[in-house]
Amino acid sequence: MPEVRWLWGGGTETVLREDGVRFRLDVRQVMFSAGNVSERIRMGRISRPGETVVDLFAGIGYFSLPIALHSKPERVVACEANPVAFHYLEDNIAGNRAGAVEARFGDCRAVAPDGVADRVVMGHFDADRYLDVAFRAARHRVTIHFHALLRGPDQGTGTVSDLLRREGQRAGFSLSDAQVRIVKSYRPHVRHVVADATFVWAETKDICSR
Ligand SMILES: C[S@@+](CC[C@H](N)C(=O)[O-])C[C@H]1O[C@@H](n2cnc3c(N)ncnc32)[C@H](O)[C@@H]1O
Repeated sequence: MPEVRWLWGGGTETVLREDGVRFRLDVRQVMFSAGNVSERIRMGRISRPGETVVDLFAGIGYFSLPIALHSKPERVVACEANPVAFHYLEDNIAGNRAGAVEARFGDCRAVAPDGVADRVVMGHFDADRYLDVAFRAARHRVTIHFHALLRGPDQGTGTVSDLLRREGQRAGFSLSDAQVRIVKSYRPHVRHVVADATFVWAETKDICSR
């Protein structure tokens, strides 16, 4: 929960406009990371028209909305487990007329669809615990945007690529490309990074969607 001191005004709900997206939120109840601005803008341009995107940790629509408004996906499935964040997610979908976004309330492990995703967004530092969910959501070829924290000089970007290669293999996918970039400095000696990792299914897979 964000730490906020209310100094003046009628409340803590606000509207923030960024790159053509209107985010309504209560700064006392949900996070909004100013340091992730370039990543939100980048995500809005990265998806290809017609894709199905699954956002496992959608929050108020930080990545789902820029993708939906700027990249013309066919469908964005946005999973969010926190009821307050989910309320703002639904409000922001309506406020931005982002009809391609389908909000699903609950733990992504339970509510994410199977076998439909061209792209999976994992904007959470516990993303490593949900890679099985991402691979289950994937089509034969998928790009996963995997967020992580790298601690100290020992953990380099290779740490992330190695983890993704290993977990991909475990799920039957092979890693064909991984680009790791720094999003921001998170705290001293800790970097917030995101890997754009493309996988292809190494075996035959039955695709079903729900
Ligand atoms: C840290 S926020 C996302 C921040 C965002 N990446 C940004 O740029 O500001 C992560 C969101 O994931 C949600 N969340 C955490 N675990 C979840 C889960 N298992 N299933 C669905 N949503 C989850 C949290 O409620 C929160 O709204």
